[in-house]
Order: sequence, then C-alpha cells, then structure tokens
Amino acid sequence: MQNTPPAARWLPKGCFENEVAVVTGGGTGLGLEISRGLASLGASVVIASRTAEHHSALLDEARARGWKCEARVLDVRDTAAVRACADAIAAQHGKVDILVNNAAGNFVCPTERLSSNAWRAVLGIVLDGTFYCSQHFGRHMLKQKRGQMLNVVATYAWTGMPGVAHSASAKAGVLALTKTLAAEWARHGIRANAIAPGPFQSQGAQRNLWPNAEVEREIRERIPLQRFATAEEVAAQCLHLLSPASAYITGECLVVDGGATLGNPLWSDPGSVR
Ligand code: HXC
Ligand code: NAP
Repeated sequence: MQNTPPAARWLPKGCFENEVAVVTGGGTGLGLEISRGLASLGASVVIASRTAEHHSALLDEARARGWKCEARVLDVRDTAAVRACADAIAAQHGKVDILVNNAAGNFVCPTERLSSNAWRAVLGIVLDGTFYCSQHFGRHMLKQKRGQMLNVVATYAWTGMPGVAHSASAKAGVLALTKTLAAEWARHGIRANAIAPGPFQSQGAQRNLWPNAEVEREIRERIPLQRFATAEEVAAQCLHLLSPASAYITGECLVVDGGATLGNPLWSDPGSVR
C-alpha cells in the first residue's frame, strides 16, 4: 500500500492539497486513475456516477491509504440531480476547485441503424451531462472566482469516425463547450481544458468498442506507437493539465494518442521505396 499510483508519480507530493475535486465516472477506467492520482496528491475527491458498485474500488483503497474520497450516485443526464449534487458538495466542502467531466457512454453502430434512443443515450451522457455539470459546478466556481474543468473528449471530435456518429458529435460539442467556457470564464479565474486520448483499455471500451481480440489487434496495428495507451498514462497527462504547472493553459485540447491521428501513411516503410 506504499506505492504512489503511476499517474501521480510525476508531480510533487501534496500538489493538490486542500483542493476539492469532482470526477464524473470516477469509479472505473480513466476516471478511477484520475481520482486515485488526485487523492494521492492530497485532494478531497468526490466521484459521481450511476452505479454504487462502481464506487467501491476507490472507496476501499481510500480507506486503506488514508485518502479523502467519497462517492455520490448521480446520473449526469438529470440536470436537477446534478444541481443538487453540486450544491451539496459545495455546502459540505465550502468550495469546488476541480471538475473532471469524464463520464461517457459509447458503442459502435452504423449510422443508418442508430435509433433515436441510442443517439439520445450517448448525446445525453456526453454532451448534456458535461453541460449540466459545467453549469452547476461552474456557478460555484464563478462565486469563488476560482476553479478549473477538464473535459475528456476523443480525437474523432474533429476527424469524425465511422460507427460512432453519436459519440463523435457529442465530443465535438464538448470541445466547443470547453473553448467557449475557457473564453467566457477566464476573467473569473476559471480554466477549461480538454484531453483527447487514443484507445486505452477499460471495461466499458472493451465491451462496447473492441469486443474481441481481432478487432483489438486491427486497431493496435493502426497506431504508430503500436500499442494502446494505459489509463494511467492518460491520467498522468490529466493531472499535469490540472496542476499548477499548467496555470497558463486554457481552452486547449491535449492529444494523447500514440500518433494515431497523424494519418494513414502512404508508405508503411519509406526505406523500402526507391
Ligand atoms: C446499437 C445500442 C447499443 C449498441 C445500446 N443501444 N447499445 N444500439 N448498438 N451496441 C441502444 C439501445 O438499444 C437503446 O435504443 C438505446 O441505445 C439506449 O440503451 P440503454 O441500454 O437503455 O441505455 P443506457 O442504460 O442509458 O446505457 C447507456 C449506454 C451504455 C451508452 C448504452 O453502453 C453505457 O452505459 N455505457 C457506459 C460505459 C461506456 O460506454 N464506456 C465506453 C467509453 S469509451 P432503443 O431504440 O433500443 O430503445 C469512449 C470513447 C472511446 O467513450 C474512443 C476510442 C478512441
Ligand atoms: P468507462 O470505464 O466505461 O467509464 C465511463 C464512466 O462513465 C463509468 O464510470 C460510468 O459509471 C460513467 N457514466 C456513464 N454514464 C453515466 C451517467 N449517465 N451519469 C454518470 N456517470 C455515467 O470508460 P473509459 O474508457 O474509462 O472512459 C472514460 C472517458 O475516456 C470517457 O469520456 C471516454 O469517452 C473517454 N475516452 C476513452 C477512450 C478509450 O479508449 N477507452 C478513448 C478516448 C476517450 P456508471 O456506470 O457507474 O454510471
């Protein structure tokens, strides 16, 4: 239990001491690694998502390591519930310093087969949910004249991607929201950034996006670095963007994709061309 979580190894001890951080979807995958990193560096972390069982891994580890973590059951699609959650956290802690909009839903489906409910399910979680959280937590940050948001998007927000029209459209909206809030709220001391990871393993992504080894291999071979990211590697960059080292960065989107958006090479081995 001595080990610092991998994502937190690059930042000074106590770097988020006295900060209150909210991470949506913070019980699994990337959100869990961001939450572990923030908590190990001193933050009080509140994770929020629909399923209480998803919260126990962080809560159990927090008890064992003496981290300040708590969890709330929340569906980010419900604006009234998000508002109540934001108000309750602000009342309990006296402030909210960090919001990580990480919650998402996704699956691969040809656009012509996507039902309107399927479209709404993903748009509701990703775009509506990010907006509701940004607005309701943001109102507390505006009062404090201090705060920051980090929104998790994907590179297909600007490239598009066959099979994920819903998620790509929602992430594009989140990116536009990030830049808008960065410009609108900068004078109130609030930063807003985004991070665009390439593929990394999480239960949700594996179940919905690469459900078998063959699909996974095809994806991996198209990535110039020839491997998926780890959630810890992506979380390390999230922590860097949230840390004082990034105090002058706002409205930015950091790509962490092993080169995957650099384009399909015409020559896989230029050395063999003569
Ligand atoms: C087609 C599907 C579907 C699928 C659900 N639907 N899965 N349609 N293909 N695989 C349809 C349903 O049939 C229904 O439409 C509608 O979507 C809503 O489904 P529900 O199951 O009722 O939705 P809900 O319970 O709200 O669940 C949301 C969810 C689910 C998005 C569908 O997968 C979820 O909770 N996901 C969370 C975890 C997750 O997805 N993580 C991956 C993150 S990776 P009808 O018409 O039948 O009523 C990521 C970026 C990856 O986001 C980027 C890689 C580079
Ligand atoms: P994940 O483990 O499936 O995480 C998704 C989280 O969102 C879960 O903890 C889930 O918790 C929560 N969530 C879903 N719907 C919610 C709702 N309506 N209200 C509140 N919480 C909700 O997947 P992940 O791969 O780590 O994804 C994390 C982020 O990275 C997402 O924004 C995703 O789009 C992004 N991303 C992932 C990849 C990848 O390759 N994995 C690549 C690029 C970007 P509950 O089920 O408890 O609600």
